[in-house]
Amino acid sequence: MRMISISQYDDRTMKLAKPVYDSNRRMLLSANHTIHPKYLERLVQIGIRNLIVEDAESNGITLEEMIGIPSWLDIVQSVQEAFNAIKMKKPFPIRNLLQGAGSLIMEIQSRPLVLPVPSSTLALELKTYAHAVNVAILSLQVGKLLGYNEIMLRDLAIGCLLHDIGKTATEEDKKHPEAGFAILRSIREISLLSAHVAFQHHETFDGQGYPRSIRGSAFHEYAQICGVCNMYENQIENVPPHEVMEMIMALNGNTYSDNVVQAFVKSVPAYPPGTKVRLLSGEEAIVTKITSHIQRPVVRFLSTGEEISLADNPTVMIAGCL
Ligand SMILES: [Fe+2]
Repeated sequence: MRMISISQYDDRTMKLAKPVYDSNRRMLLSANHTIHPKYLERLVQIGIRNLIVEDAESNGITLEEMIGIPSWLDIVQSVQEAFNAIKMKKPFPIRNLLQGAGSLIMEIQSRPLVLPVPSSTLALELKTYAHAVNVAILSLQVGKLLGYNEIMLRDLAIGCLLHDIGKTATEEDKKHPEAGFAILRSIREISLLSAHVAFQHHETFDGQGYPRSIRGSAFHEYAQICGVCNMYENQIENVPPHEVMEMIMALNGNTYSDNVVQAFVKSVPAYPPGTKVRLLSGEEAIVTKITSHIQRPVVRFLSTGEEISLADNPTVMIAGCL
């Protein structure tokens, strides 16, 4: 299976590989079927931009690195409930959130690599919440690489899940970090460090960010991790992951500390499974899985079907995406 843009869907060659859900998390279409053109139109209407499909080219690719969609959707729902509770001034659903953070931490600690479910595969209405969960998944992986313990990971995860909660309190974009900080610091069960993730996630290492233009060590590492993962998650909507990765590497030492950028590059693959690539030799291939080296995946040649691990073949280079 692989992810495609919805406009690339071809019912002659592709089947849906993962179910599609509506904005109430009801299953609209189940896996293993072709999509009727009428339904395809409906998916576009609710703002679904990508589909995960099975076709001949992606045969055998399991995307097993991706987090399970049902548990991912549960956490998306918890974040949505948290945002709604603040909007409606209702009791804050802290238990579900802590549980969600706990299950993400467990996933990340028990597997070598956990990839987010692209928020573009979900109805647009849920994008904010799905985005927050994905920022948390990426951030936890960076935290794991940096050797964070359970408490550090939990504070990081809660901060990431709620980094934009200030948007429920203000229309002004520049004010949402401070509004988020005010909301989170008033919740007894939430650590002040998590609240600072919301406060600082738009700051930069060189003092060019907002709201306070803090710099250097005043920019907490958790907030830097959230900031870089937030940027990545926003950019991959329009730019291929490997180009976003290059953009992030160029920010090294300016927007985020060297330490955080290096950890990010070692935690998130530039060429996720299912990506079609051109090698420097001119040959076309598809990434099938990531095994020993995050940036040197296993690829399958489209012409011959032969698979090689780039980790074991250091001279074979990826030139770009197809
Ligand atoms: Fe934000």
